[in-house]
Order: sequence, then C-alpha cells, then structure tokens
Amino acid sequence: MAKFVPVDTFDLVIYGGTGDLAMRKLLPAMFHRMRDGQISEDSRIIAVGRNALSTDAFREMTAQSLRHALRDGEFHASHWEEFQARLTYVQADALDHGAWGDLCQVLQGFEDRIRVVYLATAPTLFGPVATGFRTNNLLTDNMRIVLEKPLGHDSESARAINDEVGESFAENQIFRIDHYLGKETVQNLLALRFANSLFEPLWRRGAVDHVQITVAEDLGVGGRIDFYDQVGALRDMVQNHLMQLVCLVAMEAPTSLSHESVRDEKLKVLRSLRPITASDVKAHTVRGQYTSGAINSTAVTGYLEELESGESTTETFVALKLQIENWRWSGVPFYLRTGKRLKAKHSEIVVQFQHVPHSIFDEAKYDITPNRLLIRLQPDEGVNLSVMAKEPGPGGFDLRPVSLNLSFEETFGIQYPDSYERLLMEVLRGQPALFMRRDEVEAAWQWVDQLIAGWEETRQKVESYVAGSWGPTSSSLLLDRDGRNWYPEN
Ligand code: BG6
Repeated sequence: MAKFVPVDTFDLVIYGGTGDLAMRKLLPAMFHRMRDGQISEDSRIIAVGRNALSTDAFREMTAQSLRHALRDGEFHASHWEEFQARLTYVQADALDHGAWGDLCQVLQGFEDRIRVVYLATAPTLFGPVATGFRTNNLLTDNMRIVLEKPLGHDSESARAINDEVGESFAENQIFRIDHYLGKETVQNLLALRFANSLFEPLWRRGAVDHVQITVAEDLGVGGRIDFYDQVGALRDMVQNHLMQLVCLVAMEAPTSLSHESVRDEKLKVLRSLRPITASDVKAHTVRGQYTSGAINSTAVTGYLEELESGESTTETFVALKLQIENWRWSGVPFYLRTGKRLKAKHSEIVVQFQHVPHSIFDEAKYDITPNRLLIRLQPDEGVNLSVMAKEPGPGGFDLRPVSLNLSFEETFGIQYPDSYERLLMEVLRGQPALFMRRDEVEAAWQWVDQLIAGWEETRQKVESYVAGSWGPTSSSLLLDRDGRNWYPEN
C-alpha cells in the first residue's frame, strides 16, 4: 500500500481556475490528496479567472464538477466541507496590469509557505503571468511555476516563452508538465527496465525487431475544437506525450534517478532522432481526419461537421515511423500512432522481439511467434510478455503463444491515482524529475518543426478515416510496407 506523506503548507494559485483542466483534473486530484491526509488544514487553493464569481459561487461550481469527476461514493459531505474551506476565488485578468490588487491582497502575509502558480491557460499567458508575479512583488523564496502543455506552437515560440518566464523564475522553479509522466505505468517503465536485469541485454538492435507506441482515444475533440483546430494531433500529442514515451523506452540507463540524470538521457534520445523532412514525409508519416461513424454502436459526427466553418486540413490522427540514430537503436524502427475517435481508448507500448534465429521445430507445421512485450498504459495498466509454449498433452509437440500477464491493479490491489495527483504532489515537494527541462521541450519542438515544414512543403494530404476505426488505411500500409502490422491487428 502506498504511503501518503503530507506536504508542507502551501498556496496553490491556479490560473484558468474555472476552466476544463482545473475542474476535471486539478481540483479532483487535490480533493483526493486532501482525503488521504496529504494536505494541511491551512493550505489554500486560490483559483484565478476572468469571470466575475464569488468564492461561494466558485465552491458551488467545484462541487458540481467533483460530483461528476469523482468515482461513485467518493463525494463525501464531510470531505467536501473540509475541501471547500480551502478554496478561494479571485477575479483577475492576467493581462491587465491594474488588476493584480485582489490577488496581492489574498497572498499578502503568506510569504513563508510554499507558493505554486499553476498556469492551466493558453501559453500566451505564461510570460505575462510570470512577469506579473515579479513586478507585483509576489515572488517568494519557496516558489515554483507550473506550465501546462502546449508550451508554444513551435520551437521559436517555446523559446520565447521559456525566455520570458526565465526572467522571473530560475530553471529549477519551472515545472513543465506532461501528464503522461505522472502515469503509473509510464513510471513503471523505469522500474521494468532498470530494476530488472532480465530485459536490458535484449533491449537493443539485434534482439528487438521494432517498437510500436499507440495512444488511441475514442473521444472526439469536444468543446476544445477551436483550440484543437489550430494545433492538430502532432502538436497536441506527439510533440509531448509520445515523444516522452519514446525517450523512456529508448534512453540509456541514467546514472541515478536524479532529475538531471534522467533528463540528460532523455535529451540524448531526442537529439538522436533522424529528422523527417520533405523528402521522406510521404514514406514515413500519415495524417488523418475522422469522418462520421460509430463508436460502441453510438453514431458520432465527423470532425468537419463539428467545426463551425466546416473546413479544415488539421489532422486528428497521425502515424509515424521514427529512426533513432545511435548504437543501441540503429535500424530498429519506432512506429507511433495517435488519434481521436478511434475504435477504443487504448494506449500501449509494444516491444516486438526478433524471430528465433533457427527453428528446431518443423517450420511447415509450427509457426513460431516472436516474443512480444506489451506495456499497457490504459485501460487495465499492466505488462504482458508473450512466449511460445508447448501445449499440454501426452502425444505430439504442439506449440502456441501464451501470455505472462501482470495486471498492476490486481497485483497491488489499488485503483491507480490520476497522474495529476502524483504530479501536483511532486511540484509541492519541489521534485522536478517528472517534468520536462527547457532543452527537452525545445529539442522535441525542433524535430516536430522539421516534420511540419515537410508537410507544408509537400502539401501532404489529410486522409479521412471513419470514426470507430483504427485510422486511415495508409496507417496500416506504413507497417505493411515493412512486412509488419500494428498490434492488435486492425
Ligand atoms: C492531452 C491532450 O494532453 O491529453 C488531449 O491535449 C488528450 O487532446 C489528452 O485527449 C489525453 O490524455 P489521457 O490521459 O486521457 O490519455
């Protein structure tokens, strides 16, 4: 059973305090941590937003969201009473220099405690809010700032934001969040690779045939469509979440779990990615956009029908073939795919090992399936290793693949906390290992920038796929051309 160690008293100031992320993720996460005794009675959560709301109205809004976001039976009246006492709402427009008075007043006299500013807003506000804290004398000794993704829309804008925030905060105070790094299974990848000697000798070219990373969502874009249409799947999911997964699968063993060692190793992976430019975007990438279809027998509309303009070439699906140019991975492709309105919510990493070099079994009779290590991120987090085994029986010698299955939830007997719970506690403790360093974010953007330039130069088409499928046909062809297929097979 996990231990819950209380964090020191804090003020958590959330910009975008009435927004979707705060309501769906941040406040439920803090509610859970309070319920488990990690948050002291005098800690405060201060939501900042542009809407004219009283603290009472904000509390009511939070109560409604929690009822929705929490699991059945979790919204306990006594817990809610405790939680709501910690909530305050401040109306402020971050871009209006004259509108900081109320926040200054609320924070005054609380300079000794941990102060965290969480920017759950558009990235255009990151710089101005950071500067506002400095010019309004709100910076304290024990302070950190959390930046939600996306951090800009290309490497230049990311650099500009980093520079601007860097004028008020030191790098070790800046927590760039990628909530995939807070997922238990993602962290378990580190345990699997570096707390076991079993896999390391095989974790390389010569033993691994290829790696697949799938992050599939059955949901569409929902209320974020105007934002999403400017961004697309590559910027929304690949530049951050999928790149981080590639890094954790591909990186060398860090010298320790210290944040600098882990992040140094991840950065080396990002710098070893072969650029995908105009000459190879067509062969190595697929862009898709969903049309109407059905998911779990429910009819859903297409992307264009959801857009007011009815026109867009933004991709809601992307598949890529990556090459990592280093000694460990040279020649081993990494196939990535992610998309909205796919058949199911389903995220996993598949490490496909090579065929046995020589079969002692009658090849005409026995098809020996290569070993496969599957790391499931969602749903049902766990690890599954497929191995060949002899079918039991007194006669003959029949082979078949069987699975060594480890479900984390069953094994540890707990429901996994949401990744934001873990990440918020790490921020409050000042532990940056699960957050992205400036150079990592910028390196990931540089790689993505080249790919986008390639798409623009070649005017790479967006192919349609029916909602409820696994993406456009070209996504299967991407692997088919190499004699491979996505797992599970389409
Ligand atoms: C977010 C993206 O970062 O991750 C969303 O902006 C996406 O578009 C979400 O839906 C997926 O997160 P999860 O944890 O549900 O896989």
